[in-house]
Amino acid sequence: MSIAKLTLEGKEIELPTYRGTEEELGIDIGQLRGQTGAITVDPGFGNSGSCNSEITFINGEQGILRYRGYPIEELAENTTFPEVSYLLIYGELPSKEQLQSFREKLTYHSMIHEDMKKFFEGYPPTAHPMAILSSMVSSLSTYYPEMAEEDGDLNVLRLLAKVKTIAAYAYKKSIGQPFIYPRNDLSYCANFLHMMFAVPTEPYDVPKVLEDALNVLLILHADHEQNCSTSTVRMVCSSQADIFASISAGICALSGPLHGGANQKVLEMLEMIQQDGGDYKKYVNLAKDKNSDFRLMGFGHRVYKNFDPRATILRKTADEVLNNLGQTDPMLDIAKHLAEVALSDEYFVEKKLYPNVDFYSGILYRAMGIPTDMFTVMFALGRLPGWLAHWKELRDDPHSRIYRPRQIYTGATQREIVPIEKR
Ligand code: ACO
Repeated sequence: MSIAKLTLEGKEIELPTYRGTEEELGIDIGQLRGQTGAITVDPGFGNSGSCNSEITFINGEQGILRYRGYPIEELAENTTFPEVSYLLIYGELPSKEQLQSFREKLTYHSMIHEDMKKFFEGYPPTAHPMAILSSMVSSLSTYYPEMAEEDGDLNVLRLLAKVKTIAAYAYKKSIGQPFIYPRNDLSYCANFLHMMFAVPTEPYDVPKVLEDALNVLLILHADHEQNCSTSTVRMVCSSQADIFASISAGICALSGPLHGGANQKVLEMLEMIQQDGGDYKKYVNLAKDKNSDFRLMGFGHRVYKNFDPRATILRKTADEVLNNLGQTDPMLDIAKHLAEVALSDEYFVEKKLYPNVDFYSGILYRAMGIPTDMFTVMFALGRLPGWLAHWKELRDDPHSRIYRPRQIYTGATQREIVPIEKR
């Protein structure tokens, strides 16, 4: 294995390197501070690996995304969300028996404690469902304390099963409708749509086209290696905080508009462009203007510098679902124009800014009847198995240490306090 050499203030030190299974090269700086007194500085962590992981591989230059070695395109085409969740968390695709047993557990644990229903009453009607979701997930720890490792494993299943119920209840609360209990005869995705859209006064059959689209959406969001929210989950888990605290922190990190919150912002942006007469070129120019802080939401990605494979799949799925439902959506037309202009514009080409997953997911959620402020909750529902897989990987790593980065201090040097009457 090659050795990296660093010359610092006249002293040369050698740093070992190692490669991952996909030939990614890493320089091990574990001894750097001990040998030189120096640290590395990498704000935004664009060049820093925080861990080794066996869960997801991304090659941003080639637009590759694989979960446990399986290409995202094949998983989206051939599997369901519970199968992908099993794959991420336990490392292999389930056998028929394993899937049956997994599904039964996800169904068995899908109700939340009746007392927790009262919590929803305390939130104002304007509460954002992401804030409700993170608080409710954090509150689950009061019902399911982790005394031993087995509790953590059971809580993985509880979280997968209950988060969809909490998400649907948050929506029902926001529109003032009664909560709809989960049904044991429905699949994971159908059950969620049933809890969202059924009402006690009428029969409701979950349309197959929506169930299938939701499976694809959730699979595409299920993991994305060390993104902001997943790193947050690992950060909190590294202190040995319980699983609910770790996942709740991940939900909070996801809510930001530069991360999962972007899907809501994309639709709000498209609505704004439509209301402004549909002049999308004006907004492309605004995004390029250095004096404006407007960004084209749903464009650009820290890792993908060619195309986001999830956006490619979703663009096709959005077309299919809209055709199937017999809907036309002016937002999709604006989105397509925006994507075409941006993809051929020198600024976006040069900076490698391509449509990301959030660009098309909003159009699909909208076609499914999901309100805009629930979009990021849908992202959280999809990302949950990824967070759980990373939580489990870190918990089971005998070499893991608490995450504790260092800093370069740039504040005042030591000084004396001036008595208050003299300040
Ligand atoms: N519109 C216009 N210009 C952009 C955009 C955009 N959407 N994104 C980046 N740029 C420009 C920046 O102004 C910067 O220009 P400069 O070099 O002249 O200063 C350059 O491209 C690089 O941008 P950074 O912000 O440094 O890139 P970074 O990797 O830190 O951020 C991010 C990536 C946050 C995704 C960014 O592209 C962005 O804000 N996009 C819009 C929000 C969005 O869609 N987020 C969802 C991300 S995907 C996800 O979480 C699922």
